[in-house]
Amino acid sequence: MHLPDKLQEAIAEEAEKFNWLDILNAREELTDRYTHMQSRSKAFIATDAERCAYVIARMPATYAVLHRILGELQQRASHANLTIESLLDLGAGPGTALWAAADILPDLTKATLIEKDCALITLGKRLSAVSDWPTKLVVDWKSQNMEQVQVVGSYDLVILSYSAGELLATSIPAMIEAAWKLTNKFLIVIEPGTPVGFGRIRTIRSQLIELGGDMVAPCPHAMACPMPDGDWCHFSERIERTSMHRRLKKAALGHEDEKYSYIVASKVSSSQTESRILRNPMKRSGHVILSLCAEEGLVQKTVSKRNSEVYKLARKSEWGDEFSDGA
Ligand SMILES: C[S@@+](CC[C@H](N)C(=O)[O-])C[C@H]1O[C@@H](n2cnc3c(N)ncnc32)[C@H](O)[C@@H]1O
Repeated sequence: MHLPDKLQEAIAEEAEKFNWLDILNAREELTDRYTHMQSRSKAFIATDAERCAYVIARMPATYAVLHRILGELQQRASHANLTIESLLDLGAGPGTALWAAADILPDLTKATLIEKDCALITLGKRLSAVSDWPTKLVVDWKSQNMEQVQVVGSYDLVILSYSAGELLATSIPAMIEAAWKLTNKFLIVIEPGTPVGFGRIRTIRSQLIELGGDMVAPCPHAMACPMPDGDWCHFSERIERTSMHRRLKKAALGHEDEKYSYIVASKVSSSQTESRILRNPMKRSGHVILSLCAEEGLVQKTVSKRNSEVYKLARKSEWGDEFSDGA
């Protein structure tokens, strides 16, 4: 997975406006701030160099994760004859979710992006100027604090992508309640795939169930989360690195793996996930071992070659996929 070519080119043009050393320093500063979550008094992304470092270093990863989650959601929605026509993105940053949504959701006609950092909105608008999104798609960027969101109406899809974690823990429940009120069909919350990020998602999941939400993904049920202490439910998306991305991260590999935790809740009925693959499947000769979250809890399933149809599915399956043996 990689960013659309036009977006990548636009980001490269942005980078040319800076001294490379300033972007390198900005990226280190950002990494440090996010790793230690040390920014409650000022913004996590605070300078133009940091905004540029964010779009080079992080946008490809958050885009890939959004693309993956939205791809599965769109499939599920279209099976249920549901359309996703409007999007509200809370903590939109440079518009990452919009890029993924515009690529995946064919019925999207309205996107409202809430972001508190005006300069990031300006950068996001410059980047989106190169897009070839359909003219029917009307985009409205709003410079607002999402905790005091002043939008009315409801949206088929509301997204908080890597933004809930920037709020005080005590503010998240009110934010989720407000986001849920604005949701017409689906709400997606994504956080880093760390024990802390998963902890936030697990708490948000419980709140959404209490609010009456149906679980769409990754969970196959709305019962208590079976993940034991010391483990955390997370997934991984592989991102191809551009040479600029590699230089910025001083990385040798041509790819990186973005770990994420997430929840998709719904107010409308769509098909239920039968089970979710929680680890890389162990593909042995003659059988595949799957670690699954299923209705009965966490289970290991061995699929043997003798069960040829299910075996074929298991061999093709990946960590994070839904798994259905058709039983
Ligand atoms: C880690 S970035 C994620 C950006 C984007 N959603 C993505 O996935 O790439 C978090 C964003 O949330 C924004 N943000 C944090 N707190 C906010 C608030 N209270 N109101 C609006 N935006 C906020 C930050 O300015 C930042 O752009």
